[in-house]
This record gives sequence, structure tokens and C-alpha cells, in this order.
Amino acid sequence: MSFEAEIAKRRTFGIISHPDAGKTTLTEKLLLFGGAIQEAGAVKSNKIKKSATSDFMEIERQRGISVATSVLAFLYRGKKINILDTPGHKDFAEDTFRTLTAVDSVIVVIDVAKGVEEQTEKLVEVCRMRNIPMIVFINKLDREGKDAFDLLDEVEQKLGLKVTPLSFPIGMGYDFKGIYNIYEKGINLFSGDSKKHIEESISFSDIQSPELEKIIGSAAAETLRENLELVEGVYPAFDKAAYLEGTQQPVFFGSALNNFGVRELLDCFIEIAPPPRDKKAEERMVKANEDKLTGFVFKIHANMDPKHRDRLAFVKIVSGTFERNKPYLHVRHNKKLKFSSPNAFFAEKKEIVDTSYPGDIVGLHDTGNFKIGDTLTEGENLHYKGIPSFSPEHFRYINNADPMKSKQLAKGIDQLMDEGVAQLFTLELNGRKVIGTVGALQYEVIQYRLEHEYGAKCTYEPFPVHKACWVDPEDPNNEEFKEFKRVKQKFLAKDKRGQLVFLADSAFSLQMTQQKYPSVKLHFTSEFD
Ligand code: G4P
Repeated sequence: MSFEAEIAKRRTFGIISHPDAGKTTLTEKLLLFGGAIQEAGAVKSNKIKKSATSDFMEIERQRGISVATSVLAFLYRGKKINILDTPGHKDFAEDTFRTLTAVDSVIVVIDVAKGVEEQTEKLVEVCRMRNIPMIVFINKLDREGKDAFDLLDEVEQKLGLKVTPLSFPIGMGYDFKGIYNIYEKGINLFSGDSKKHIEESISFSDIQSPELEKIIGSAAAETLRENLELVEGVYPAFDKAAYLEGTQQPVFFGSALNNFGVRELLDCFIEIAPPPRDKKAEERMVKANEDKLTGFVFKIHANMDPKHRDRLAFVKIVSGTFERNKPYLHVRHNKKLKFSSPNAFFAEKKEIVDTSYPGDIVGLHDTGNFKIGDTLTEGENLHYKGIPSFSPEHFRYINNADPMKSKQLAKGIDQLMDEGVAQLFTLELNGRKVIGTVGALQYEVIQYRLEHEYGAKCTYEPFPVHKACWVDPEDPNNEEFKEFKRVKQKFLAKDKRGQLVFLADSAFSLQMTQQKYPSVKLHFTSEFD
């Protein structure tokens, strides 16, 4: 197969949702369609269970298991699908943000009863910032939920999307009869009481035909006609170019658990979702079909075996082919590296691979060379745009609890931050180190890992911060900025990349600061140009 055909064949995407909306179930159903697994339930180990929130050892164990399922690949109708798994647990949201830098599109799962939830809002915002094409799947239609139009409104308003439904439910919950597929013009009927299988798929191009009454009954037929008329009147027609630009989002309805509406979603997905996209590096735009390899590290998974400090760096291939045993330039270190056992991922296994193509993910064994955002090339001095950091939710001072082990502690903190476990801020005033995390759980994870992997001990002290804001002065030499730095000295820190960060101690102080120093812009993410 030609290089171009290999690229055209790939679809690399992520599924995002608020926990419990049905991401795992949908992933599993997609894998079943692809023949990658034989039975439902196989992907469950990937999920960090709610019951484990207080047990970080268990979470680490589960994270270990999930290495193999970080990338789930399968073939479906001639396409190679790579699903990049994103942790559902809120405390690992940073992992998910980073994974989103490696996807070419996403599917957003929303629970029909709960509507748009907090985690979905955050994740969709990241996708919007990057114009990632999104398809919305409204799940659990076998249950009573919100009215479809209300939900579409909510999706538009809360998520800032411009939707167009490509399918529409016929009834809901107890009265759920099936789905009208607007994209393919057909009806899928749900079977009787069990609602476990599609009873029939009927191609139905003329919605006015009296046949409709015979199939779904007169009341449902009338409602469906009215609804479809409203859909046509209110929503724009599907526009593939707009979807690809990230300015329009098609919506599907279904029930992942009951395998309903999933095939329709997948069939449409492989048709419209983009193959590996060109990617902007700091120096230039890189096209997927360039023959020289470029790629970047978006995730590091550490310590499958704590004794060896072995890490697996996940590299997304942007252009060219990745070959086993060929030397590549690690741009940040300006050093050539060869990889004798790169891993590729297929279904739930990982295996050594000789050649990988754009869109694919390779897992490289690493002993501490890589950090998130590193670029690999065949010699070009290229840097993929940094992966943004977002303001953590929790902040604590970290103190050394064993003065004999300060080197170990520094190294441990350094490496854990490279992995993206948390963010480190160094206070301008006194050089003290503050760790910022998305979830309180990470503090336990860090403490445990520092002790068991690096032999260092730490303690924490509360440091009340409302939000970390990246500072962007209009003019670094103007008086306003100088005054800002003088007055706010206590609240200023450098992040790991050396960027200046304002740690606002309350919403009020943040607001006052913004008013008082209008020329000093405060951003909630580290990427703002
Ligand atoms: P997540 O990965 O987004 O966190 O969600 P997950 O797929 O684990 O689904 C969360 C719960 O919602 C699960 O139930 C799952 O069975 C259920 N679910 C998923 N899709 C549907 C659907 O279409 N209809 C209905 N009615 N339920 C659905 P659970 O009881 O929490 O877990 P389990 O005991 O079933 O594993």
C-alpha cells in the first residue's frame, strides 16, 4: 500500500465525556464492531472506578493496566481506527488535555438525562481552542431524559457549538421506538421490551409516506414529521467542510449499552472524520504526507516496573514513517536516538512494530530522555507547539522531609513533572516550590512515588490559591508592569518553562488585579498567542 494510502486510511480520535456518560461503553461497542474484542466487558479494566478514589495504590495499579489500552486500534471497513483513551477520572484531566493534542478529531458523549456536565465543558473548550472536529453522541436514549431540542440548545449554549442533528430519536425512555437517520435517510427500530437489539433497519427516504404510520404508529409518525420539519427549519444542513474546520458539529442519538445508533455513528465517522491532519510547528506547517518523520511526545507512562524506572513515551507520528532501529533526532537534547523495540498498539495488545505511519502512536521505552512535548525528527530543528497547561485546582507547598535526600527529591519532582503528573511553580520571592494539581489525589500519588521510586520524602503545606494565571504584559518595560511585579511579588512564580505566573488568592483579588493593571493580560492557560 502506498504511503498516501496508509495516511488516508487512518482515523485517530478520542472520546470525551463527563464520567459515567458512557465513554467506556461506547469504546467497547466500537471495538466489538471492529472485531477487536469478542465480548462486552473487556475494556472495563481501563476505567478508574469511582470506588477507588481514596485508594491511590489501586489507581496506580489500574493506570498500569491501562497502558495497553491507552491506544485502542482496530480495522473497520478498510480504515485503521486509533482510539486514544482519555482517563475519565477528573483528577487525571490533565492527561486528557494532553491526549487531545494528539487526536485528529473527537466524539463527545453526553448523557441524555444529565445533559452537558462540567467535565464535558472543559474538554470541549480545549477542542474548540484547537478547532478539532467534533461529533456529539447523545447517549442513553433508552432512559427518560431531556427533550431532544432542549438538549441541542443546551449543547449549543453551554459548549459554544453549532450543531446539526444527523439522526433524531423517535420517542424516548419507555416510549423509545428507534432512531431516524437523517444522514442516511432510514429508520432503525428498537426491538420490543428488551431493547437489546436493532429489530430492523428500514431505508426510508420519503418521510411523508403513509408507510411511516404502519411502522411506528400514527402518534409517533406525526411527532417525527413535526420534529424533522423543525430540524430542517432550525439547523443548517450538514456541511463537511465546516465540521472539518471545527465550526459545525453533527449530533447523533443512541444508546451505547444497547448497541443502538452506534453503527450509524461509526459509519458516518469513518466517512467524514479527517485522516491525520497537518500540524503547525513553531517553525512551519508540517504536512502529514512529507516523507521525513516528525512526531511528538504527548504522554509518558511511568514505572510499570518500579525497580527499573522504565517509562513508555507515547509519540504521535505527524509526518513520514517511523522505522525501528533508525536513528532520530531528539530535538531538545540535540541527540540521535535509536529505538530497538518500539511498540504499536492493536486492539488491547501492544507489540513491537517495524514501521508506523502518520496518525499512528508508537510507544518508546525511555529511561528519562523524554518529557511531554518533545519532538522527534530526521534532523530538522523543529518544535511542535507546546502543550498548554491549565490552571490547577489545588496548590500546596512541597517541603523536603529528609535533608539527606534533597538531590533525590529534586530529581523525583523534576521527572514527575516531565511526565505531567502535576505542575510545579517556583515562587519569585523565596524560591519555594509549589505543586499544583487537578485533583487532591495526585498529592498522595506524588508522595508515594517520590518515596518508592526515588527514595525521597516530602511533606505538604497548604497554599491557598484561587487560580494560576499566565502573565502576558503588553509591554514588559512599562511602569504598570513594573508596579504589578512589585506589588504582587508575593503571588508571582515561574512555571516549569520559566513563564511568569500570577497565583491569585481569590476571585476578588484576581478581578481587582485585572482592573488595576489592564495592560497586564492574565490567561488561564499557558498557551495564548
Ligand atoms: P464512562 O466511561 O463515561 O464513565 O461511562 P461508562 O461507559 O462506564 O457508563 C457508565 C454507566 O452508564 C454504566 O453503568 C453503563 O452501563 C451505563 N450506560 C452506558 N451506556 C448506556 C446506555 O445507553 N443506556 C443505559 N441505560 N445505560 C448506559 P454502571 O451501572 O455504572 O456500570 P456497569 O455496572 O453497567 O458496568
